[in-house]
Amino acid sequence: MRTMIIAGNWKMYKDVAETRDLITALKAAVPSVPAGVESIICPPFTSLALAGELLKGSAFQLGGQNMSQHDEGAYTGEVSGKMLKAVGCDAVILGHSERRQYYGETNELVNLKARKALALGLRPIICVGETLEEREKDITAQVITTQVKGVLSGLTPQDMAKVVIAYEPVWAIGTGKVASPAQAQEVHQLIRKQVAGQYDWALAEKLTIQYGGSVKPDNAAEILAQNDVDGALVGGACLKADSFAAIIKAARP
Ligand code: PGA
Repeated sequence: MRTMIIAGNWKMYKDVAETRDLITALKAAVPSVPAGVESIICPPFTSLALAGELLKGSAFQLGGQNMSQHDEGAYTGEVSGKMLKAVGCDAVILGHSERRQYYGETNELVNLKARKALALGLRPIICVGETLEEREKDITAQVITTQVKGVLSGLTPQDMAKVVIAYEPVWAIGTGKVASPAQAQEVHQLIRKQVAGQYDWALAEKLTIQYGGSVKPDNAAEILAQNDVDGALVGGACLKADSFAAIIKAARP
């Protein structure tokens, strides 16, 4: 059975005081995660050190929302993977569609970041997804295949044992428009097939593929029940302890 991973992407929400409140509430709401489930929370950079302290011994792992492809240097405003590790991060979200859309991140750049994360022992959660325009043009499969190929370029089978892919249709992020379970399953299956082609089926069968885009307590169970959906990357609904806890519960009903 594949590991289900429920990750919470806090985006640019929660200062340190709010982080303390939310993590305190999360730890109370989720004293342990069900067997076969992992949960990662990804607060903004300024809250990571505090979150790392507060989460020690808890059911949650910690992740960043982005990192530099460089080790260190004169890169104003950037944060390195080593810095993430030093405050207790286990994982990092890479290539989120908001990074691609607003900050020009390409598959090539996301690939460089993934390689760096893996070299440092961070689990990369690599995001792919089509825009509404691409879905309407009926080129979803093509877009996803190109993204998967690009972001995984040069990664070894050993690397792939740590990689998580998050399928996030851009039209479903923050819009309340969730992909139907069948739409999600179709793309997840395509991603697994693509990975099997690049590596092999045994490896592809073990890959955790999360769905992201308006996952809420009331739609999580149905989406997570799909064969090839192995977790969720949650935005809006992870900012409240009770709704994030309900989604974690829905992972293994
Ligand atoms: P959402 O965000 O759950 O608010 O749609 C998901 C994401 O962007 O990771």
